[in-house]
Amino acid sequence: MSHTTNQSWGGRFSEPTDAFVARFTASVDFDRQLALHDIQGSRAHATMLARVGVLSEDERDTILGGLDDVAADIEAGTFEWSVELEDVHMNVEASLTEKIGITGKKLHTGRSRNDQVATDIRLFMRDAIDNVAGELARLREGLIDLADREAETIMPGFTHLQSAQPVTFGHHLLAWQEMLARDHERLLDCRRRVNVLPLGAAALAGTTYPIDRHVTAELLGFERPAENSLDAVSDRDFAIEFTSFASLLLMHLSRMSEELVLWTSAQFDFIDLPDRFCTGSSIMPQKKNPDVPELVRGKSGRVYGHLMSLLTLMKSQPLAYNKDNQEDKEPLFDTVRTVQDCLKAFADMVPAIEAKSANMFEAARQGFSTATDLADYLVRKGVAFRDAHEIVGQSVAHGLREGRDLSEMSLEELQRFSDTIEQDVFEVLTLEGSVAARNHIGGTAPDQVRAAAQRARDGLAAS
Ligand code: ARG
Repeated sequence: MSHTTNQSWGGRFSEPTDAFVARFTASVDFDRQLALHDIQGSRAHATMLARVGVLSEDERDTILGGLDDVAADIEAGTFEWSVELEDVHMNVEASLTEKIGITGKKLHTGRSRNDQVATDIRLFMRDAIDNVAGELARLREGLIDLADREAETIMPGFTHLQSAQPVTFGHHLLAWQEMLARDHERLLDCRRRVNVLPLGAAALAGTTYPIDRHVTAELLGFERPAENSLDAVSDRDFAIEFTSFASLLLMHLSRMSEELVLWTSAQFDFIDLPDRFCTGSSIMPQKKNPDVPELVRGKSGRVYGHLMSLLTLMKSQPLAYNKDNQEDKEPLFDTVRTVQDCLKAFADMVPAIEAKSANMFEAARQGFSTATDLADYLVRKGVAFRDAHEIVGQSVAHGLREGRDLSEMSLEELQRFSDTIEQDVFEVLTLEGSVAARNHIGGTAPDQVRAAAQRARDGLAAS
């Protein structure tokens, strides 16, 4: 007879669990999010047990029917969660037994909560990854379309946040697209290692029942059973991998956010974000704040924190399962939700970005952004690059004193610095000429941007 409130392991105990300890060790408040995946795993386990003759077909059908009823309660929100039952697994099993009687107690044959929870998280993660991959694809598509539309729009390109050389807005957007394409690859690569079946490892050493793990793996859509039972119950690499993917993604979204915040400011005024993505100020009536990108920038911090939590959680654990592992869930769940929310915000917002092309052009016209083009022009006329650099440097210094850009100087004025300069110089000093001249794979010329957008579309379709 059990003295504890927890029926599943009370047998060897002589006094009830301390009330605080019961609450302290319980995980049901957060791991209930795994309930439907827990049931999915149990269905496959029961089906496999019947296939190998450990359960009768009647018992299997009774269990599957009962699990359907439990799932219905959970989906309807009528399931009564109990902290005394510690975690999602025991809550589901107790409800099953309540519904179908003693047959429910046979479900746990050849299984432990250790391989069960590892399986549940992997099933949960696989669905999360597929959802995240869909949102990531939607965002990339929006970026590629916008880049195509803005293939000819000229803006200043920056180094050190100072105007450096003119680029096309489409080219800049495709740089973002490249970052996300790498994240997408990392995500799909992570999915391969998530998609492995722990079930069958039981507590740590495997089980004495004649189980067939290939059947369970196939029923659950896993690529294969995990190779080693000790590793299967203790491995959380995949959770760290996902969180590390998420950290890189949020780092990229944060960089994009930073640029959006700068560009919407009155000082830059390069783009407009529609009102629905912004909020106002309760004191300053004129304000329209870019809250969405700011919040995404801020969210990167919590995801980095979760990555550190998970790495630290795992670093000193001896094989195999330890209760420490229960701490994997909250960081992981929060990471998934944060990534989903940030991607949704961006995927909705990006197609609505409006370029203020006249302002971008004007900004690119100032700041001597075609200075490199002038140097390259001189080199084409036979001047050594270092000498050309010096000549252009003097022209820029003159322009700074006079308050005029290179393209605004007369030919005579420019010839003061080099008599190699001729009338045709003005072609290279225009912004259109400057971007069109960078006409190679990876360059900023409008034709290249359109071709790169097409390649990006093809790459996305193939992923
Ligand atoms: N709630 C536990 C967890 O999240 C389930 C596994 C419990 N196993 C055990 N031996 N206490 O890790």
